[in-house]
Amino acid sequence: MLNSSHPETVAVHAGRAPDPSSGAVTPNLVFSSTFARDDHGQLPHGHVYSRTSNPNRASVEAALTALEGGAHAFAFSSGQAASAAIFATLSPGDRVILPDDLYHGTRYLAKNEFGRWGLVAEFIDTSDLAAVTTALQKPARLIWLETPSNPRLKISDIAAVAQLARAAGAIVAVDNTWATPVLTQPLTLGAHLVMHSTTKYLGGHSDLLGGVLIAGGDAPADLVARLRTWQNLGGAVPAPFDCWLLLRSLATLPLRVRAQSASAAQLAAWLSGHSKIERVYYPGLSSHPHHVVAAQQMSAFGGMLSFEVRGGHDAAKAVACRVKLITQATSLGGVESLIEHRRPVEGPDSVTPPGLLRFSVGLEHVEDLRADLTQALG
Ligand SMILES: Cc1ncc(COP(=O)(O)O)c(C=O)c1O
Repeated sequence: MLNSSHPETVAVHAGRAPDPSSGAVTPNLVFSSTFARDDHGQLPHGHVYSRTSNPNRASVEAALTALEGGAHAFAFSSGQAASAAIFATLSPGDRVILPDDLYHGTRYLAKNEFGRWGLVAEFIDTSDLAAVTTALQKPARLIWLETPSNPRLKISDIAAVAQLARAAGAIVAVDNTWATPVLTQPLTLGAHLVMHSTTKYLGGHSDLLGGVLIAGGDAPADLVARLRTWQNLGGAVPAPFDCWLLLRSLATLPLRVRAQSASAAQLAAWLSGHSKIERVYYPGLSSHPHHVVAAQQMSAFGGMLSFEVRGGHDAAKAVACRVKLITQATSLGGVESLIEHRRPVEGPDSVTPPGLLRFSVGLEHVEDLRADLTQALG
């Protein structure tokens, strides 16, 4: 029985116990897609078929439930599969409020794909409580937050939005991919659901694809039941090996995220004073418009930052192409630093400034990262 709420301890121990049959301390990897019944036709270990549940997924779901302070977790084969599961539990005609700055795949999924099924997606500035109040004056089934947002690191006040949304009868779902449960626990701030792309910080090594939903103890029972059904019958579940890798990576999550946050904070401050930089987006800077809210709901400001290069699209592209230690690639949250020129990958709907580079700060020494950026900026 785990008797600690410290993320370092929870990350190492939740969802793990020595295997009773062998004493193995590291969890076994169970590939079997099906599980034997006993002489009475019963399932002694509770698993029937691997799409419905399996030992490695059960372990990682238990760990993620504990890390987010939730009551149930549902693991999926990608972050997008997890997001789609939330939208799939809603009904045609349901109105969903989402941030005007968020992962472009979520925007497309809600607006275009689920739009065809009758979901009404409306995009507002969720960092502006007056805009949230106005949007909630019309019936809304769900409000979606992503904080810090991808790629402009807007911060939404989870506690304040949750209070407004609950009063209006709306479900609150938070994409916590960029903050991670180490820095922010949305369920304790009033959200009903947390979503993660576990591909990012939770996996942490750019070697797995996954997603998860964690429901709080007071999430509506019918919502939880539908998510469970969707996970099983929709079938976009992670393979046992991806669950095993994810559980292994969770043990180092608090250390990785704190180190990445410390380096990102130093680099953000340095870039803010650089002559080739127009603007830095990082919630740890006192100049960030939502710094005060960020300081309240985050225990550090995260390993992600964005910056605009003077000279716009061409200048930003040139910097991304000149880095040597940092890799020019999409994705984030891994041990290695990645940089990406965002607008070209976001498609025609993108509102991202053309000169913006998104930077996922890895675990390299901060001075090596600074030196690489210095030479790339020229
Ligand atoms: C904030 C955020 N949410 C969701 C996703 C989608 O996750 P996945 O690529 O695992 O489907 C991403 C991917 O970049 C993301 O950054």
